[in-house]
Amino acid sequence: MNLDAMSKAELTALISENAGNSRNSEIFEYARKIRYKHYGDKVYLRGLIEFTNYCKNDCYYCGIRRSNDKIRRYRLSADEILLSCGTGYGLGFRTFVLQGGEDGYYTDDKMAEIIGRIKEKYPDCALTLSLGERSRESYQRFRDAGADRYLLRHETANSEHYSQLHPPTQTLKSRMECLYTLKELGFQVGAGFMVGSPYQTNESLAEDLLFLKDLQPHMVGIGPFIPHHQTPFARMERGPLHLTLLMVALVRILLPKALIPATTALGTIHPQGREMGLKSGANVIMPNLSPVAVRQDYALYDNKISTGKEAAECLDALEKSVSSAGFRLDFSRGDHPDN
Ligand code: 5AD
Repeated sequence: MNLDAMSKAELTALISENAGNSRNSEIFEYARKIRYKHYGDKVYLRGLIEFTNYCKNDCYYCGIRRSNDKIRRYRLSADEILLSCGTGYGLGFRTFVLQGGEDGYYTDDKMAEIIGRIKEKYPDCALTLSLGERSRESYQRFRDAGADRYLLRHETANSEHYSQLHPPTQTLKSRMECLYTLKELGFQVGAGFMVGSPYQTNESLAEDLLFLKDLQPHMVGIGPFIPHHQTPFARMERGPLHLTLLMVALVRILLPKALIPATTALGTIHPQGREMGLKSGANVIMPNLSPVAVRQDYALYDNKISTGKEAAECLDALEKSVSSAGFRLDFSRGDHPDN
């Protein structure tokens, strides 16, 4: 199965034909085989610190969008972030992901200071940032300060679809430029998209694959769209489980060495969602390391899980369910092999 050589029409047909198939299909088998070839049964861990839920953007799907005045907003101080890293380090994590809304409070200076402090204290750890679109100069400063990786989902590679998910101030062009810039600056880069977001078609999913083929990101985050009741998409349907797993499998086949998380959103729509993600080709899990007091406030979508086996402090439970799915937690940094 050579996805690399397929046209948009062929990829669209492939997605349509398999959108409803059982997980025993050839595609899932093949994705598992490729994953084993490069990663065996390893599942890399990332400690996720959601450090601010302030956001200047107004994405129609997201619960922490600017216009949502019903949520409690919070910001973690540098000391609080360091404390979370300390907890994570003690638990064995060797990658920290700082994720937040696009919050101007965290100026380049502030971010550089936080990054510097984390890298100084934990030089053996990888640091991933996920704080949205910034200028090349900002990204360069983060890189110089020691950040290793950057996650920025493209959300959809179809510009018309992008404009149905975001207000006109946000454009796909700008998102894509950021991703290529991050790559140029030497970050390990993560792109990604939601599955089943409003107005998505199988053709736009095919475009996501073509975009990923061009970008060649090191990481790809894929999760189902889940409505949040305080957004314009409150009444939209959530993304289907099987289609999400299919896209995970196809991305594994397209980018054999990619680091692909079994996302929290997958775990939210099905109790075994993350294990199913692993069996479909995913090889990363990002347990929540945010202070428990703010976890409920980082609600991108409704019913987001945060205190069960997806919580960093419940690694034992995670270990159990991951091993019963046939995989093994790996506590190394888990860099992309080509980096
Ligand atoms: N459902 C699923 N995923 C969402 N995200 C934001 N809002 C939602 C939602 N309602 C995802 C986006 C973003 C990532 C941090 O979370 O893809 O990039």
